Amino acid sequence: MTFNWSAKYQAGETPWEKGAAHPELSFLLSKHVDLFKNARRILVPGCGFGHDAYAISEVAEGDVVGLDIAPEAIQGASSLHPQSSVEWRLGDLFAEDESFDLIFEHTCFCAIPLECRLDYRRTVSRLIPSGGYLVGIFFPNPDHEADQGPPFGIEMAELRRFFEEDFELQWSREPQQTFEGREGVGRELAMVWCRK
Ligand SMILES: C[S@@+](CC[C@H](N)C(=O)[O-])C[C@H]1O[C@@H](n2cnc3c(N)ncnc32)[C@H](O)[C@@H]1O
Repeated sequence: MTFNWSAKYQAGETPWEKGAAHPELSFLLSKHVDLFKNARRILVPGCGFGHDAYAISEVAEGDVVGLDIAPEAIQGASSLHPQSSVEWRLGDLFAEDESFDLIFEHTCFCAIPLECRLDYRRTVSRLIPSGGYLVGIFFPNPDHEADQGPPFGIEMAELRRFFEEDFELQWSREPQQTFEGREGVGRELAMVWCRK
């Protein structure tokens, strides 16, 4: 099933759009500041209106690319953050072929249908060289079944196992701050994975 993200933006049906970066991102940016500062290139896939990518670009010293498959998302990101140094890129994560020292994940993984989930891992593994990082605020969201989305849910234990083949988990915790409506144990997990 191909989900029409453009149609959702055109209809203004964007419940994920909160008008701000994830509240836990500022904590991640200070706790793991070296990861963000040392990365020469950072990718934010499924960046939507770009709030996370913009916040990251304020700390990062390298290039930040905000990527989205929906033209409306990329247009929104560039008009909401006109002074930003982020490169807003229209494209499909699975077709991306540049290499990134760090990929920041937030509500892109849960946007990917179950049948493409493995492609997500293969793609981020391909784009991140050994020693690079996948940092994310994952949205396992047990309120949604794995096949009923987006967002497509995943069991917390499965999420922890899912990336192990290619990455080593270096740190994780449930966010202490989140958006209104996403509160609750086991709904989100911040993780830092290092590419093997
Ligand atoms: C749930 S929204 C989250 C947007 C943003 N991360 C946020 O939290 O506001 C998922 C986003 O992923 C984008 N997306 C879905 N599949 C994609 C793909 N294969 N490549 C790039 N972007 C994709 C959608 O267009 C949408 O903007």
